[in-house]
Amino acid sequence: MTKKLIVATSNSGKLKEMQDYLQDLDWQLELQPKELEIEETGTTFLENACLKASAVAKALNLWAIADDSGLAIEALNGSPGVYSARYGKTNEERINRVLKELENNPNRKAKFMCVIAISNPQGDIMLTTEGTCEGEILTEIKGEGGFGYDPIFYLPEKSQTFAQMSLAEKQKISHRGKAFQALIPQLKNLKI
Ligand code: IMP
Repeated sequence: MTKKLIVATSNSGKLKEMQDYLQDLDWQLELQPKELEIEETGTTFLENACLKASAVAKALNLWAIADDSGLAIEALNGSPGVYSARYGKTNEERINRVLKELENNPNRKAKFMCVIAISNPQGDIMLTTEGTCEGEILTEIKGEGGFGYDPIFYLPEKSQTFAQMSLAEKQKISHRGKAFQALIPQLKNLKI
C-alpha cells in the first residue's frame, strides 16, 4: 500500500531531493500547501525539524517529514547554525559574511549538520535522524556546483570543496546524505 508523506517545505527542489533519496520506499511524497508556511523559531536543528514536521502533519492530518540543516563553524561558536539560510540575502552575501567574520583565524574547522524528523498525523514525532559532515572553511571560493556555502566548504580527505563534487559524490558523504541513509531502514520498519 502506498502511503502519503507530506514534505514540510514549499521548496520543490527539496521535494525532488527527498523523492530521490526515498525512491525505493512505498511512500508517496507531496509538497505541503504553500499557505502553510511554518516559522523556524527553534534554536537547534532538531527543534526546527520537529516543529515543522509536527505542525504540517497536524494541520493536514497526514504523515509529514521535515529537515533542517546548516553550517556550524567552530571559531564562530557554531554560527551561522540554525541561521544559515538567514545569514544574508544572497548566497554571495552569506559567504562573504562568514569569510569576513573568520578573517585570518587559523581555526577553519566547520561541520554541516542535518536533522530529519517524521511526524504522525497527530503531530507526534515518530522518528528523527541526523547526519554531520566535517570539513574546513577556505579563505576564498572554489568550484561552481552545489548551492549555499558549498564553494567555501572544503573536505581535506577529498581535496575538494562540495562545489567541486558531482551531486552523486556529495550525496554519499554529505550531512543530508548521511541523515537519509540512517532514516531509510527506520522508515521501512515504522509501524503505521
Ligand atoms: P534549511 O532549508 O532551513 O535547512 O536551510 C539550510 C541552509 O543551510 C541553506 O539555505 C544553506 O544556506 C545551508 N546549507 C544546508 N545544507 C547545505 C549544503 O549541503 N551546502 C551548502 N549550504 C547548505
